[in-house]
Amino acid sequence: MNVLIIGSGAREHALCWAAARSEKVTAVFVAPGNGGTALMGGKVRNVPLKATALEDLLQFTEDNGIDLTVVGSEQPLELGIVDLFRRAGKKIVGPTQAAARLESSKVFSKEFMKRHGIPTAGYHVFRDAHAANMYINQAYTSYPQVIKASGLCAGKGVFIALNKDEALTAIKNLFEDRIFGEAGDEVVIEEFLQGQEASVFVLTDGIRYRLFLPAQDHKRIGDGDTGKNTGGMGAYAPATLVTPEVMRKVEELVIKPTLTGMAEEGSPYTGFLYVGLMIDRGEPSVVEYNARLGDPETQVVLPLLKSDFIAALQASVDGTLDEVPFEMHQKSAATVVIASGGYPDHYETGKLVTIPDELAAQKDCLIFHAGTACDGGQLVTAGGRVFSVTALGETLRESIDGAYRVVQQISFEGAYYRKDIGTKGL
Ligand code: AMP
Ligand code: GLY
Repeated sequence: MNVLIIGSGAREHALCWAAARSEKVTAVFVAPGNGGTALMGGKVRNVPLKATALEDLLQFTEDNGIDLTVVGSEQPLELGIVDLFRRAGKKIVGPTQAAARLESSKVFSKEFMKRHGIPTAGYHVFRDAHAANMYINQAYTSYPQVIKASGLCAGKGVFIALNKDEALTAIKNLFEDRIFGEAGDEVVIEEFLQGQEASVFVLTDGIRYRLFLPAQDHKRIGDGDTGKNTGGMGAYAPATLVTPEVMRKVEELVIKPTLTGMAEEGSPYTGFLYVGLMIDRGEPSVVEYNARLGDPETQVVLPLLKSDFIAALQASVDGTLDEVPFEMHQKSAATVVIASGGYPDHYETGKLVTIPDELAAQKDCLIFHAGTACDGGQLVTAGGRVFSVTALGETLRESIDGAYRVVQQISFEGAYYRKDIGTKGL
């Protein structure tokens, strides 16, 4: 089988790694991929096509006999890649454009959850600054309030306003300064949820579904969850706060009603569904849905999957998900992101990276690249998040220590990483 992976982050490097391990797979193409996927060799090859060049990607699958396409990132989903490929009779893992609204429109997802009684923060929708300001100026509005642009903003469209002034500034940013353009034309203001966050990933054919191990991301740039929000600075799995009892609630209160609700509304949801949860004293509510796997959570969740990943994906496309094994290793995994100095604000790229050769050979350790490029045979930085270093261990402690041992040996000018990834789970 020939597989095409779409995207260029550490998540896609992990997808390539998992696909290449499958006995069913002869070749893995990744568009556009990164420096890490370029160096993989063996079955894996980069293709210089952008993730948003839908027609070119379709042509590529026709020219190269691709049997299955896997979409890593959200933009092609929002643009309708799944609809386009299915019309052309091509097998692809992901939701249609209509189903991907669970991620691409926060207004849609909040209204959907309300219609189906799925637990989530109470909210109001605003389409202009005047109405939003009126709401904020009411005496009974309590703080914090969470203010979100409805559209896709690469994880940056959420403001947690601690007081009225911050809330008014966020509204000005969205409606007047239009810092997210059209993505901020509709705004959700919602109640602040207390608790701890966890991510649950589902693979579904629209009816049947299988669960990956729950993971926990670390969204803030600084140790102790301080500073700005980022794309994610590290993760671990399994997240022990998602006890079997919590997972059962998540299935009954969130996953099943989401899948049946989408099917009833005429947009059956297929592919990966990311359920971002807040868990407060054992009670889950949905913070957000994503229409894809998470990054960096994928870098811990996929290495813990024991069964053949591609066989499961193929079954999800063929509607036979209940017929394939979907087993996990009885281990822990941690991943630590190494970022460029300055990220998530301004950072420089093109810094030369050094990785000792012997690291590549280490058992139970995986160096996934995010923002790297191969420049004249040399590996250089090319993005904000540069690596995601994963280690497996018999215990969470072992996996954390394993990941940091490797992280300390990778160097480039300005390299930054959090020192406390996974300690929440110990
Ligand atoms: P989102 O893009 O909706 O996932 O939001 C980004 C981050 O903002 C989440 O991962 C949470 O850390 C935080 N957040 C979003 N909504 C809420 C909420 N209602 N209560 C508390 N924190 C939230
Ligand atoms: N880990 C957060 C995300 O992928 O959106």
